[in-house]
Amino acid sequence: MGTPSIPRRHFIATTLAGTAALASTSAQTSQPGKPLTVLHLTDAHIRPEHDAPKRCAAILQGILKRHPEIGLVINTGDSIYAADYNHITRERVLEQWKIWDDVVMAALKRLPVIHAIGNHDPWWAGPKDDEMHGIPYVCKRLGIETSHTTHRHGGWEMIAIDNHNGALGETQQNWLFDHLDSLPSTAPVLLASHLPIFSLAGDYDGGNMRNAKAVVDKLAARKAPVICLSGHIHIQSSESLWNINFHCNGALSGSWWEPGDAGDGSYKRTPAGYALLRLWPDGKSQSVYLPLPG
Ligand SMILES: [Fe+2]
Ligand SMILES: [Fe+2]
Repeated sequence: MGTPSIPRRHFIATTLAGTAALASTSAQTSQPGKPLTVLHLTDAHIRPEHDAPKRCAAILQGILKRHPEIGLVINTGDSIYAADYNHITRERVLEQWKIWDDVVMAALKRLPVIHAIGNHDPWWAGPKDDEMHGIPYVCKRLGIETSHTTHRHGGWEMIAIDNHNGALGETQQNWLFDHLDSLPSTAPVLLASHLPIFSLAGDYDGGNMRNAKAVVDKLAARKAPVICLSGHIHIQSSESLWNINFHCNGALSGSWWEPGDAGDGSYKRTPAGYALLRLWPDGKSQSVYLPLPG
């Protein structure tokens, strides 16, 4: 990959969030409890072309070496380049998932990983009764029982939802709301999805989740902080609204491992990268998006 226009190791988005809104204090402010460091990867779009397997292996090795404190990985989908188009063959799907296993999951094997499903992950071109058809096969490859899951790490309630087709749908929204209602109102919540619930990146380029207002209102009714993590747009943006911090964190693959319009692997001024979050048990959080080093 060439030289990004943004200086190496420059934090293009840094936020430290508290219970009410974005805090104006610096990241050095003392926080009670030890933070959990989360690696947020999205839109890896792993593929055989452009030397992506070798480059991705080196990138992940470098990330884990630079940040040995990482204790959890959140992958918000588009894990493989594309299985969803009509012309995609079974062999092509298998080829991409094999690279995912051999490169990405092999590198992350010592860490717990939370997965959300991206719009490019499921294969629709095969027969409906084919075991590789649709969402169940993606769940199988990602090692998750259902496409929406709940977790608890570092004092945070974490929920991965499946909005790969653009919206949540009534059944899943009811499930989400019931689960949120079952949590203590003071529990900080992290909601991971492929499409942003809300993002300026998605407003700019298109691609935020449809009919998201009810979800936003539900999250805003909570007393504790909420983080919404997403990808899909390949553009980084972070916003806060009331108690909610939204982070749409670019793409590990940038321009799908290709040079892109700028010739440096970036997509519309967002370099290929990853995010690091620090989550304190009391609900405070910090998030930075880090361009890939050259
Ligand atoms: Fe993507
Ligand atoms: Fe996507």
